[in-house]
Amino acid sequence: MKRIAVLVSGGGTNLQALIDAQARGEIQNGTIAAVISSSPGAYALERAGKAGIPGYVVNRKDYDSNREMTLALLKQLRELDIDLIVLAGFMYVLTEELVHAYRNAIINVHPALIPSFCGEGFYGLHVHEKALAYGVKVSGATVHFVSEECDGGPVILQKAVEVREDDTPKLLQRRIMEEAEWQLLPRAVSLFCQDRLKVEGRIVRILPE
Ligand code: GAR
Repeated sequence: MKRIAVLVSGGGTNLQALIDAQARGEIQNGTIAAVISSSPGAYALERAGKAGIPGYVVNRKDYDSNREMTLALLKQLRELDIDLIVLAGFMYVLTEELVHAYRNAIINVHPALIPSFCGEGFYGLHVHEKALAYGVKVSGATVHFVSEECDGGPVILQKAVEVREDDTPKLLQRRIMEEAEWQLLPRAVSLFCQDRLKVEGRIVRILPE
């Protein structure tokens, strides 16, 4: 069984999708061993508690930089003997120390079709504001491995979602979550835990069962 840590900053609906998938037996060969939040008030911690998953806080406010927070996270992850880190609405850019320690073992969900609407400053609702302002007719979600480059690591899964004429950032965010993120993230996590994701340079191959 691979031990999974889910890193969160806010509401945690993607965490909930993982918890629900685990309850349905859809995370094969993996178990959510910890939820780590960057803020003590995150609702995601309550979701973890209700599911009986230990919750931890590595409070960004306690550190002077993202690097110092990353080093504290790394220590916590090692103590917990974690195999896979999932960034599920984690709002800080982690520094290279974590990427080096967990090469191709950190998965992020991003609410757009990378390489569109990604990189520094593209997080949460901002992503959907920028997609609507640009006038794209489709957007979607991407699940990818985390590399040194913000939102630049190898793509694992993507799904397109239509943009409607009367969309607001919140409406589009919700549709992308329901139709894409909550499906892709548990699937990618299960594939990882079954050792079915083979990374060849930028390309991720999905191995058959
Ligand atoms: C999700 O839409 C996730 O894709 C996005 O933040 C939201 C978190 O919601 N992540 C990013 O923008 C990362 N760059 P949640 O806390 O309900 O899962």
